[in-house]
Amino acid sequence: MRRFYLSTTVLFWLLVTAFWTASLWLPTPEESLLLAAEKTYTPAELAKHATAANCWMAIRGGVYDLSAYLPAHPSPPELVVPWCGREATEAYKTKTKGRSHAPFADELLARYKIGTLASDQAK
Ligand code: HEM
Repeated sequence: MRRFYLSTTVLFWLLVTAFWTASLWLPTPEESLLLAAEKTYTPAELAKHATAANCWMAIRGGVYDLSAYLPAHPSPPELVVPWCGREATEAYKTKTKGRSHAPFADELLARYKIGTLASDQAK
């Protein structure tokens, strides 16, 4: 019984140490977001995500994976989906109707950032 108690205690502390060590290596959620935001995609990679179910857009230099959001977008899909896989800053700025999105849309957009668009030289 005593041996069982000792070995489970040792095992417990080994596990605690292992988790603590792992937490030193793993990035925090904030760091993970930053790492994602640092990822760079070429226009060619962007163009591979050009459907409603797999929709990336480049807006103001950022690349956004909007696949999960599109079904909730208030406009008819035929207005937004053609911008999947493309540089869509102007379309986003004007909603293609000369009117800008509400600040709430900017907040939403930030949640879907996966990286930045490579400059033209990297094409
Ligand atoms: C780039 C292509 C896009 C186009 C052409 C576009 C177009 C539009 C249009 C026409 C509306 C008005 C819908 C209505 O009231 O019937 C709208 C609203 C909205 N869109 Fe977009 N959108 C685009 C991308 C996005 C993205 C990427 C987000 C956020 C992740 C977004 C978020 C919203 C929100 C929250 C509204 C409702 C509030 C508002 O009008 O600002 N849209 N969009």
